[in-house]
Amino acid sequence: MPDKPFASENLAADQTDGSKGSDGSHPPTQDELDLLHYKPRIERPVKQKIDELQQGERLRHVIFSAQFSVEQLEDLGSTADKICMLSRTPSGQDFLIRLLSHKRAMLYFTQPSTRTFLSFMAACQILGITCNEVRNPTTSSETKGETHFDSIRMFSSYFDLIIMRSPLARLAEACAYLMIDLEESDNRSVPIVNAGSGADEHPTQALLDIYTLQRTFQFADPKDSSITTRYEQLQERYPNLTRGLAGKTYGFCGDIGRGRTVRSLANLLANYEGVTLIFIAPRHPTLALGDDLRQRLLDRGVRIHEVDSFEEVVDGQPVIEGLDALYMTRIQKEHNDAADAASFAEIDFSRYKLTLDLVARMKQYTPILHPFPRDQHFGEIPPEIDDDPRAMYFRQARNGMWVRAALLSSVFGVDRQIAEFFRDEFSQWHHYQEELAWTTPLGTVQK
Ligand code: CP
Repeated sequence: MPDKPFASENLAADQTDGSKGSDGSHPPTQDELDLLHYKPRIERPVKQKIDELQQGERLRHVIFSAQFSVEQLEDLGSTADKICMLSRTPSGQDFLIRLLSHKRAMLYFTQPSTRTFLSFMAACQILGITCNEVRNPTTSSETKGETHFDSIRMFSSYFDLIIMRSPLARLAEACAYLMIDLEESDNRSVPIVNAGSGADEHPTQALLDIYTLQRTFQFADPKDSSITTRYEQLQERYPNLTRGLAGKTYGFCGDIGRGRTVRSLANLLANYEGVTLIFIAPRHPTLALGDDLRQRLLDRGVRIHEVDSFEEVVDGQPVIEGLDALYMTRIQKEHNDAADAASFAEIDFSRYKLTLDLVARMKQYTPILHPFPRDQHFGEIPPEIDDDPRAMYFRQARNGMWVRAALLSSVFGVDRQIAEFFRDEFSQWHHYQEELAWTTPLGTVQK
């Protein structure tokens, strides 16, 4: 795993007194001591941390998916819809780009990224936020021995927001506590947004996954008419079908144990009434559902099943035929150790690849999601599936730009201005079709 030396396991097990470094072989570095300072706060249950990350009603630091309630997710989705719509008109773009043109963001990404980095950058650009970046720590003064915390504090001197991705679990969380402590001592402090922290969390990926599901499960279609709608047609075939995320069955397939996107999304789905989560993974301790996530979901009353193939029967039918949404993931082989590599040789990984035959057996409306990147060598979703209307992963990635812009507008408190401008801009044109889709001079936009 890529988390050392700040992995939560190390914090819990190794760094008990700070007299040794995380691998026990050297005196602790200042980086390790800095994180050790926050160990008691990091080890609290997530529920106890949430208030500290807020500023009044508003999110200040975005670290965990558990910070988001269903109501907040609805608000973010609604703001994302409006930003998406406004971005289609010159006047809307002009309005959006002036909203936060006085703000600057640092994108501190010391782990590879395409989608998260670029969609945050695009989101900043939509709102007029000026961006700068550190992507390669060898180009920063960390190579001269500067600590992570000194680097972060420097960024906060020059920027108004730090969006960070790190291979170190809990570093973003610790940086949020650093900022909170600086604020309490009347020093400059800026919001921290976690863009992926080790194997730990990827909360903004979960936001775009939820936004994609919100839009999909409205079942709005540009061809809907007063005579019939897609939703009505689907209901004829699936009489129990309802709109929205509640009461649905979600499948997660692949590398469940090491997938931070799975952790974050499963936590968010647990907010919705009556969901069932099915984890389809090899029965291997590295790849199967981890004890902590399983316990967290069970504590919240979520119905879960763990199976090792799409063919296993759950509720009287093969898993693949009963899913309302399927979330595929990549096997993260870059994190394999020698023991994993040997034991993985026993696993039939073909069971965790989607095929046209499997897709043909899925429900007609079941979206196929994937956080991407997909692995061309493993082939968990072969490209011939891309043309299927249920293949949602490219739209899902684009949705990340809208929902991240919505998140930034919320952090900086301009989401209400967006709603007001939107109402004024479109009031003469739009009508809200049964709360399903905006009809505007630009056409129908599915929510
Ligand atoms: N889904 C995701 O986090 O993609 P990147 O690693 O490319 O940012």
